[in-house]
Parts: sequence; C-alpha cells; structure tokens
Amino acid sequence: MALLSILAVLVFYVFHFWATPKAMEVIPGSLGWPVVGESFSFLSEFSSSSGIYNFMHRRQERYGKVFKTLVLGRFTVFMTGRDAAKILLTGKDGMVSLNLFYTGKQVLGPTSLLQATGEVHKRLRRLIAEPLSIDGLKKYFQFINTLAIETLEQWPGRTVFILEEASTFTLKVIGHMIMSLEPTGEEQEKFRANFKLISSSFASLPFKIPGTAFHRGIKARDRMYAMLDSIISRRRNGDEFQQDFLESLIMKHSKLTSGKEDNEDKLTDAQLKDNILTLLVAGHDTTTAALTWLIKFLGENPAVLEQLRDEHLQIQANRRSGTNLTWNEVNNMPYTAKVISETLRRATILPWFSRKAAQDFEIDGYKIKKGWSVNLDVVSIHHDPESFPDPEKFDPSRFDAPLKPFRFLGFGSGPRMCPGINLAKLEISIFIHHLVCTYKWRALEKDDSVQPTLVRMPRNKYPIVVEKL
Ligand code: HEM
Repeated sequence: MALLSILAVLVFYVFHFWATPKAMEVIPGSLGWPVVGESFSFLSEFSSSSGIYNFMHRRQERYGKVFKTLVLGRFTVFMTGRDAAKILLTGKDGMVSLNLFYTGKQVLGPTSLLQATGEVHKRLRRLIAEPLSIDGLKKYFQFINTLAIETLEQWPGRTVFILEEASTFTLKVIGHMIMSLEPTGEEQEKFRANFKLISSSFASLPFKIPGTAFHRGIKARDRMYAMLDSIISRRRNGDEFQQDFLESLIMKHSKLTSGKEDNEDKLTDAQLKDNILTLLVAGHDTTTAALTWLIKFLGENPAVLEQLRDEHLQIQANRRSGTNLTWNEVNNMPYTAKVISETLRRATILPWFSRKAAQDFEIDGYKIKKGWSVNLDVVSIHHDPESFPDPEKFDPSRFDAPLKPFRFLGFGSGPRMCPGINLAKLEISIFIHHLVCTYKWRALEKDDSVQPTLVRMPRNKYPIVVEKL
C-alpha cells in the first residue's frame, strides 16, 4: 500500500515536470528510472542505519562534487564544498529560496518565515531577532535552570532514553518561552501531543486523507492554532499578561500605526501563528538532537568529558557555596562552546540545506536554471579532512582557533543562518552544567545508526543508566 502510494505521488509529479530539463544533460549523474528516478534508492538509504549520507557519498565518488538526480519528483542538483556553500548561502538577494516539501509548506502556512523571501523575510527576521537575542533570553534563564535540575533528578535508578528526555525538556522550554506554558498539566500534554503529530507529518506522503500522517498533522496544526487564538484573545482582553515571546509579537501586532515604518512592522494574526509554529518546528528537533548527540559523544570520549567536567566544577568552585548557576557563568563556558560546535560538526544534524533557484546562475562551472532544486551536502563539508583532519574523531580542540568561513555550518550562514542559535546554546549549556557536575552515566548499548528522519538523531535514543557522582 505504501509503495503504491509512493508510486502514485511520483507519477503525479513526473507528469507535472515530464521532460528532463535540457540544460541538466551536461551535469554529471544519473536521473535513474523513467518516472521514479532514483527515489527508491533515496528512500532505502534514508531508512538505512547510516542514513541518507550514503546516497550522496556514493554518487560523489562516481561523479564528483556536483551531481544531478531525480528524487521524489524533483530534479535535483547536489553539490558540496566551501565555494558552493558561499554562493548558495550568501548569494545575492533573491538568487535562491528555501525549498520545503509540499507537506512542510502546507503545515507551516504561507506566511511562515521559511516560505518568505526578500524584504518580507528580512522583516520577519528583524521581528524575532530581539526576543531571541542574548539579552532577550535572560528572562528565561531561571526557568530553564530549574527545569534542567528537576529533569535530571528523575534520572537515577532507571533506564533513561536521552532522546526522549531531551525532547521533553526542549519542548517545555520553548512552550514556556513562547507562551508561558506551565511545564506540567493538561495544556502541556495537549501541546506535546499536537506538536508530535505536526512534527511527524513533515516527512509523510502528501495525502490529506483521514488516517494519514499528513492529515493528522494538519488537524493537530489546527488545534494548535485554536489554542494560540484563545491565548491571544485572553491577552488582548487584558485577562492575562505575560512577558513572553508571544506578548512581544502581540505588541508589535497591535502597535498603533502613525507612520509607514510602523505599518511595515505589523504582523497579521496569520503571520503571528505561522511563525510561532515555525519557531517551534525549527527549534525543537534540532535542539533535541544536538543535546542527545552531545551526551552520546561525551559518553564515548572520556578525555573530553573530563575536560568539560573540569570547566564546570571550576565554575562551581568559584561560586559562594549554596548558590546556583548564574547568568554570567552560563555565558562564560569556553570549552562547552567548543564541545557544542564539535557535536554539530560531527553529527551534522541537518545533512543538507535545500534551496530552489529563484533565477539562473552558475556554480562550479555548471549552469543552474531557475526552478531547480539545489541541495548543499553539509556532511561532506564537515568531514573534509583538509578542514578537519581525522574527521571521524570527536575533538573539540578543532575550534580552539577561529575557522575560515564556510568550513563549519552547524547553524548555517548568511541571511538564513539560524536565529535560534543563542537559545539552543543556552539550553544545552545549562543542561550540561548540571549533568556533568552531579551525575555520571553508562550507555546500555553501542549503536551508531540514525533514525529515518529529516533531522539526524540516534536511532536507539541513546539509552543510559545514571548515578550521582
Ligand atoms: C542546536 C540546535 C539548532 C541547530 C543545529 C539549528 C540549525 C539550523 C540551521 C543549520 C539552519 C539553516 C538552514 C538552512 O540554511 O537551510 C537553521 C535555520 C533556522 N533555525 Fe535553527 N537550529 C537550532 C535551533 C533552533 C532554535 C532553538 C530555533 C528557534 C527558537 C531555530 C529556528 C530556526 C529558524 C526559524 C530557521 C530558519 C531561518 C530562516 O530561514 O531565515 N533553530 N537552524
């Protein structure tokens, strides 16, 4: 049934874009079978234990750094290397746009930041920049700190699946930050259930038929929007006031407009909801995966763990006894920052960045035509032995000196660079502080396989047992 459905989608797409673009003929690579292209190979590598990387790697060995393929109805050019990264990520305005799948577009809504381009995109980025800046995040510090301590207190004496715990932790943080959601209770449960359905609808087949993951995702999105509508109306009526992200956006939304500039900064209700959902979606799986990989890499690299623990015990030792982690301390953890970067390099949570050519341009000597999908393979950039000798080794000292541009793309680069970088680092640094200062752990199995999801995560969820130091 699943295979038939996949075939139906492929046939639909290929009838849509029947002919191979002529200009693509000069690009190395194979477009595979008529109609289905290389989709089966793509899907089978996607579900394999090493994940999608093999699909790119095998073709790079055969064709070089640039190759074409036809997957899931899309004529796509894969490319890698720092030059390609520079052109694709910082290319002059309007050259490329983000390339979401149909399901992502439908779920996130048309006014999402991820679908915006040019001036509209810049304006949305400006609106979220302040609340996600280091200063803007200060007010959430105590919440995150307490939640980390409480989460960890539940760990000793049982099998802990880090991926699940990290997911719960990061969702509670972002729910609180965005709309002051209590970390426990009925609302949190509903929020979590809806979010999970939304999240799993992204990599689903695009059928809005009852019973499908996509349909469930759309319904969950509608429930999430109803929840937001009710919170927004309580805030507008003055029944509730909170100093959170939503409030700052509502203020922008209801700002009385005197001049043109103010008008430009106004958000519609649809923009407000689409972009809150966008932040939830873009920020949750990524931070969950990063925290999980980081704890896994520490478990596998005792020397790094020891050095990291030294940094945190030193912070503790310098503090007056009985006091807790402070804002200044969390912003001064140099070795932790390197461990986070090395985690993002080694795991490469988003294996490629996907773009759509918004105009014709040339890259690495190849002409790319408007409308083509272009994917930047980031795994290869992060494992280039010229930039990172012995690339499989987990070694945070690689980040001792600043790297040349486009060698490390853990949070991307250019106008689409991750706006949640400060929040992600804050959450991870606080959590890691309490973990390494108070606990030790042992992995219950050795397994390096990854889940068949768009964001790379350990397939076994990294099960461990924990005890106090
Ligand atoms: C460790 C955690 C995270 C990692 C590794 C990460 C990584 C990235 C990367 C690589 C991009 C650029 C993708 C591209 O160029 O195609 C990106 C974009 C984005 N990230 Fe993050 N991210 C993380 C956490 C967050 C958080 C916490 C939020 C929100 C609160 C967030 C929101 C976004 C948004 C909205 C975009 C799209 C920006 C745009 O298109 O202008 N991310 N992220």
